[in-house]
Amino acid sequence: MANLHKLVSQIQSLPTLPQIVQQVITMVEDPGVSSSNLAKTISIDVSLVSKILKVVNSAYYGLPRKISTLTQATVILGFNSIKNIVMTASVFSAFNKNGKNERFDRKKLWEHSIGCAVASKVLSKRIRLGVPEEAFVAGLVHDIGKIVLDQFLHTKFEQVLDVIDEKKVSFREAENEVLGLNHCHIGEWLCDKWNFPKQIQEAVAFHHSPGRAEKNLKMVAIVHLANAISRLEGMGDGGGKKGAEIDVKCWEMLSISEEELSELIVEIQEEYEKSSVFLEMLN
Ligand SMILES: [Fe+2]
Ligand SMILES: [Fe+2]
Repeated sequence: MANLHKLVSQIQSLPTLPQIVQQVITMVEDPGVSSSNLAKTISIDVSLVSKILKVVNSAYYGLPRKISTLTQATVILGFNSIKNIVMTASVFSAFNKNGKNERFDRKKLWEHSIGCAVASKVLSKRIRLGVPEEAFVAGLVHDIGKIVLDQFLHTKFEQVLDVIDEKKVSFREAENEVLGLNHCHIGEWLCDKWNFPKQIQEAVAFHHSPGRAEKNLKMVAIVHLANAISRLEGMGDGGGKKGAEIDVKCWEMLSISEEELSELIVEIQEEYEKSSVFLEMLN
């Protein structure tokens, strides 16, 4: 996509993820790797270890006793949870909590993203997709393209905010008008650059247009619906002047009835209330 290459070439120093993240993603797929192997690799990064233990011991996981070592955490939560906590911690440390733009509250966008992450995890458990931790990360990074714009393409971002103010449109509509592309394209590009799993990339790419996805349709539908729930429930603020639209096909895809949805929303709200540890991880 020519527009995308032109745009991202203007970014001088995009945050890279520490090499350890890539190592952990690869190690988790390898059946020959033991808990202590994984713990040993991660323990090179002392601040990452303390972040993992903080998350594991937080109200969000609500474990009955305190976990004091990484090996213990790996045994109790499993490799996938550890991998996704590592990805979460690294995404958070790659960006700042607050932006410099007075018209855009980045912290609120992070809250919206955490709401979407929590909702994605609850939905993925409900439909037994089998990868709740991965759904969490997909939800967390679904709007990362907006943060890239805010942090690295300031002038363009200002123009997008102008269009939102003038025309009372959604973020995506304003981005399309100014840039010829939107945060879904930027987010997909970044997830690819960071070697995130394909289903996370696809969920980011199609979270506003699930009907256009060709693979990992359930994950895409989950993040689409979770984004809407996070907005409707007032978890943070995703920006833009339009509410979330829900693609009707997602209900079928996930086979969730209206009755079930209200139960799920209660569960999502409870989980969201316990999720403050994630916001605390931001710089
Ligand atoms: Fe979005
Ligand atoms: Fe969003």
